[in-house]
Amino acid sequence: MTPLRTCRVCQGSVRQVLDLGRQPSANAFLPPAAVADEVFFHLAAGVCETCTLLQLMDETPSGLRYRDSYRYEASGSKGAQAHFARVAEHFLAEELTGKDAFIVEIGCNDGVMLDSVARAGVRHLGVEPAKGVAKLAEARGVTITNEFFGPSSAVDIRQLHGAADVIYGANTICSIADITGLMRGVNTLLSADGIFVFEEPYAGTVVTGRAFDQIYDEHVFYFSVRSVMVMAERFGFELVDVDHVAQHGGELRYTLARTGVRTPSPMVEKQRRVEMEADLTDSDMLQRWSTAVHDTRNDLVALLRGLRADGRRIAGYGAPAKATTVTNFCGIGPELLPFVCDSTPGKQGRLMPGSHIPIVSPDAFRDEYPEYVVLFAWNHADEIIAKEQAFRDLGNKWILYVPDVRII
Ligand code: TYD
Ligand code: ZN
Repeated sequence: MTPLRTCRVCQGSVRQVLDLGRQPSANAFLPPAAVADEVFFHLAAGVCETCTLLQLMDETPSGLRYRDSYRYEASGSKGAQAHFARVAEHFLAEELTGKDAFIVEIGCNDGVMLDSVARAGVRHLGVEPAKGVAKLAEARGVTITNEFFGPSSAVDIRQLHGAADVIYGANTICSIADITGLMRGVNTLLSADGIFVFEEPYAGTVVTGRAFDQIYDEHVFYFSVRSVMVMAERFGFELVDVDHVAQHGGELRYTLARTGVRTPSPMVEKQRRVEMEADLTDSDMLQRWSTAVHDTRNDLVALLRGLRADGRRIAGYGAPAKATTVTNFCGIGPELLPFVCDSTPGKQGRLMPGSHIPIVSPDAFRDEYPEYVVLFAWNHADEIIAKEQAFRDLGNKWILYVPDVRII
């Protein structure tokens, strides 16, 4: 029988559409000694038959996710740094122009966006429960509160700082399973004509673009224009703008305002039509997607096994959370990929969650190039392929798997 659950937004029935099996928490990069304590859960995505929101069937408690082993740093690429500097510039120029303007970022991570706001001398607050990255943000001069955002923290923030002109989240809102609590908090904290802006993994990229590796425990929701419109309306808000964001393989940024306060941009209707024409949440479409994802798994495993059998030296590049989904879904461990390299110091010397592939510094990769390398950080392909030009000049090859397995 197909498992069912209740939609976290509209209480409709959610039907399972993709099963990615037994998985650990995607950003829990373990020191070798901690392997015995690793926690696993069932990773599967389903679609709400009422509001069409794509979401996880089960979730891991958030307390398990943002522990010491949480090693994700949002400023880990030049592309991300430039992107968040542009986001800050936009807010500073368009929204934070008042005398006492105030912006709150939910899940500010290492402060990559608020850094620019702090430098501009504008009032801000980063709400960040993960201690390690919150410290990095503080070290940059960003004002932080080390907690989860929700209805009660919103009351406290409003009492201490007043209403926010902008509430922002990047790759955070999709991870807050209690969406009702989140929206109540936004309602408490946002000024009468303020905006709530969030940019998140897009269902269109995950399904039509086959970026199934965006699915992991932290991402409870894979929003679309249609599902966000329903969500906004339920809480007294309106979707007034939509933008494409190049981060993470293609995301959407949604701007919500209180109903009737701002005129919706034509982009909202335009993107809603794109989704309708793509049959984004149609059940046949989702069935074909699940089949295609399983084909990708078979192709990738067959390719890696074949290369190993031919005595080729292979490895992985980048240890993003996405790689946890892929390696665990495909059953790829150190016997197929002896190591992956990653530029994040906090990940080096640790093991990939679940697969236990050792993570080394990119220097080790350059010491002796492997012949074939799986580019797990494929969303940074341009930046990485350009930086590692010498790897290819020597005849070595990259392996990609989104939307299909291919060697370049
Ligand atoms: P990211 O794109 O943030 O993905 P996710 O949200 O799935 O974790 O992570 C990219 C990872 O790739 C991050 O661990 C840093 C690493 N990386 C490198 O090792 N070298 C590079 O040149 C770049 C751009 C990223
Ligand atoms: Zn729903």
